[in-house]
Amino acid sequence: MSERNVQWVVKDPERENYYWPSEAMKKKAWVSDEKIYEEASKDPVSWWAKLAKEGITWFKEWDETYRWDPPFYQWFIGGKLNISYNAVDRHVKTWRRNKAAIIWEPESPDEPNRILTYYDLYREVNKFANVLKSLGVKKGDRVGIYMPMIPEVQIAMLACARIGAIHSVVFSAFSGKSLRDRMLDAEAKVLVTADGYYRRGKIINLKKNADEGIKGTPIEKVVVVKRLGNEVNMVEGRDYWWHELMEDAPLNCEPEVMDSEDPLFILYTSGTTGKPKGIEHHTGGYAVQAYWTSRWDFDLHDEDVFWCTADIGWITGHTYSCYGPLMNGATILVYEGAPDYPTPDRWWQIVEKYGVTIFYTAPTAIRMLMKLGDEWPKKHDLSSIRILGTVGEPINEEAWLWYFKVIGGGRCPIIDTWWQTETGATLINSLPGIGPFIPTVAGRPFPGTNFAILDEEGNKLGIGEGGYLVQMSPFAPGMLRTIYKDPERFKKQYWSVYGEKIYYTSDGAYIYDEMGNIRLTGRVDDVMKVAGHRLSTAEVENALTQHPAIVECAVVAAPHEIKGEVPIAFVTLKAGYKPSPDLENELKGTVTKIIGPTARPDRIIFVDDLPKTRSGKIMRRILKALARNQPIGDTTTLMNPESVEALKEKIGYREVQ
Ligand code: WTA
Repeated sequence: MSERNVQWVVKDPERENYYWPSEAMKKKAWVSDEKIYEEASKDPVSWWAKLAKEGITWFKEWDETYRWDPPFYQWFIGGKLNISYNAVDRHVKTWRRNKAAIIWEPESPDEPNRILTYYDLYREVNKFANVLKSLGVKKGDRVGIYMPMIPEVQIAMLACARIGAIHSVVFSAFSGKSLRDRMLDAEAKVLVTADGYYRRGKIINLKKNADEGIKGTPIEKVVVVKRLGNEVNMVEGRDYWWHELMEDAPLNCEPEVMDSEDPLFILYTSGTTGKPKGIEHHTGGYAVQAYWTSRWDFDLHDEDVFWCTADIGWITGHTYSCYGPLMNGATILVYEGAPDYPTPDRWWQIVEKYGVTIFYTAPTAIRMLMKLGDEWPKKHDLSSIRILGTVGEPINEEAWLWYFKVIGGGRCPIIDTWWQTETGATLINSLPGIGPFIPTVAGRPFPGTNFAILDEEGNKLGIGEGGYLVQMSPFAPGMLRTIYKDPERFKKQYWSVYGEKIYYTSDGAYIYDEMGNIRLTGRVDDVMKVAGHRLSTAEVENALTQHPAIVECAVVAAPHEIKGEVPIAFVTLKAGYKPSPDLENELKGTVTKIIGPTARPDRIIFVDDLPKTRSGKIMRRILKALARNQPIGDTTTLMNPESVEALKEKIGYREVQ
């Protein structure tokens, strides 16, 4: 029976903004009884042990489920497994052998697509694992991956995991310099990249950026996928073509027997300082949480086509465009290009073409597509969609309702998943078979996890009281284990606000209703979410100050209609430099060059003076208030209160309460 047009959710007759799963959804869903929350909370450690046994194939079972030595914790201690075995080998032994694992759609609609079955994926992963070995990569070595959205990226990640190498994926739109900083910190030996890729029809010469990125790093070998065939510089003895190495690679590579607590990957992310931190995830716990959250949050079934639009360079790409759904034996869709290329309906055309059933994206994309007009999605039959997901930033009500009505046809739940690079997989969201689905409200913590909202003193807050979101023991198995090579920073970053027993998320939140549904209100630190991409204001400041014109600068996040937030920069210039549109563009260009286009400031505001305390510290609180049209508050402690008046005028400040 076709499921198209089935009503999966129904409106609450009493509470206007609540939606609940329909009988059809409850019947279909893996979980539909809300008792699981209570059951899981009785003994979360045993609960996770049960899930770990059911979802993952272990070579050897663990001796101890959970060990907590605050602030450190471990899961499934002594357990042995390999995540690539779980993502490919176990499926080729079943009927899924010939099932599509990856459907790849190129940016240009005129190029052929590629479909890899589980057996294709198995073969390629085995072969590439042997290639890595032949290049000298051993268990525990770090491998950099700097690639566009092509199937070789999943192959490379799974091949690393197969031999126990730790991958560190760097977003392909990051600059060569950003790549270099990360490769230096990771001390990577090998880099996997591509000659280039298309973005809005334009050729991006990725290899050129990669060449700049490996300068001065320990990288000895570079493997290059020929995606475009553009002219690239290949260094003899260092650079190799992927397809040439694969030609002679043997077909079988035994998966390494990994300990549950062996590192699986490092993913760099922004913190409050300019230096990105290497978030370290370990094998067993990550596998368990990635597997179950994929299955339950998205109600993932064998017949589904799961499209997570996130780039692989971010945690969402790692967990939901690779490990999670593949461990479930699901079919994933991977699209190389921009959402609106060559026409604004490209995404909807892809949904229709492949009959996508689960669609997971970011509020920024939803707002952008909403702005392009309803006529674009309306041109396509989107009735294959059963579940919609969102992630990365708080979603506003207007975007939620548009997504719900226009994309989901009012039939599909919206799963608003709150999580972080640090948490490895989703942690707070409503489940499709349980609900409720409430615009702007994420939902309840995943069964078996433990969250609270605290005030500054650490008191638990009740319904409607805004505070800080924290997690308590037992910490979800997929949580980061440390910051690579920097356990002190790990302690300081997450375990100093409320002590070593409470994980501090840096997010503001409140409990929305008596059910305990949680509404997120945004970061409370200097991390911005720009079009869903995580960046710190300090990184942008560091980049700007490399321009010779700048004496001082301060970057803050300003609200933006589509991107959610954008960086804006207040700068003071050296004598001899004058504010001008050219200089503004040059400064923006400096940031693009040093970090990447994602970090480009939306506005540069030239000022004579920045508001400072008597000890000479820039008062960012005031700049933030100015950028957001919020009340400025007390300025009496400033050394130069008159600077604020001048700034108000420049920025066009209008206070709104
Ligand atoms: C924000 C992305 C509101 C939050 C997976 C968090 C969200 C940061 C949501 C992590 C959501 C993520 N609602 N805010 N559904 N999901 N965030 O590391 O501020 O790129 O701390 O991980 O994104 O961003 P990151």
